[in-house]
Amino acid sequence: MPDTVPAPMPSDLLDLARAAQGFMPADEGDLLFRIALERLPHGPGLEVGTYCGKSGIYLGAAAQRVSGATGTTAVVFTVDHHRGSEENQAGWEHHDASVVDPEFGLMDTLGRFRKNIARARLEEHVIAVVGQSTTVAAHWRTPLSLLFIDGGHGEEPARADFRGWAHWVQAGGYLAIHDVFPDPADGGRPPYELIYLPALASGSFSEVAHTGSLRVLRRTRGSAGDPL
Ligand SMILES: C[S@@+](CC[C@H](N)C(=O)[O-])C[C@H]1O[C@@H](n2cnc3c(N)ncnc32)[C@H](O)[C@@H]1O
Repeated sequence: MPDTVPAPMPSDLLDLARAAQGFMPADEGDLLFRIALERLPHGPGLEVGTYCGKSGIYLGAAAQRVSGATGTTAVVFTVDHHRGSEENQAGWEHHDASVVDPEFGLMDTLGRFRKNIARARLEEHVIAVVGQSTTVAAHWRTPLSLLFIDGGHGEEPARADFRGWAHWVQAGGYLAIHDVFPDPADGGRPPYELIYLPALASGSFSEVAHTGSLRVLRRTRGSAGDPL
């Protein structure tokens, strides 16, 4: 992490990020913004788990600033099938009935995402990829300066996101993982046991920062596409 503290996010974008529906506390969003500022000059970023674009606003704000500084268009891809994770479905703690499409009886967060990113005027920088994370990962070939994993928090999606995406992080790039709870009393285990611990155990990543449940690891061995 750089020693100098960058200028904070513009207050209008901060207000929109804070107001957006989703699961990104302000202090963790601030760390996301800062790591994206550092990494996006080196290539595209990618988020797994768009939901309504709350974290996307923090990432997009960084991409917008990097674009202004470099004269190129910095981007963050964000992958989601927009049907919600297991824990977002009816009857679960994180369900929001207002994002259920009545025609199909299924969640649909794509419209909310689009509105939130359009309101923030970040459409040039935050690029939605709509589909199953495993399917998109199987076809993905682009090195990533920053990978942020915040998709399904069950065992199967967490394991698949690590296997499908982590090796695309560039040498020196960041793997950020959300909802990492070493203490089971604080929350679910899969992001900790099936993403964070395997990333460290691979010997390819070491931890550089954390705030709340957001952990940031740097790729210290191998390059994008190499097996971990
Ligand atoms: C915790 S939410 C993401 C929160 C978001 N980053 C924010 O800041 O509010 C997880 C998202 O992952 C998506 N998701 C879960 N499993 C998925 C999968 N296998 N493929 C694609 N998206 C998935 C869900 O649809 C949900 O929108």
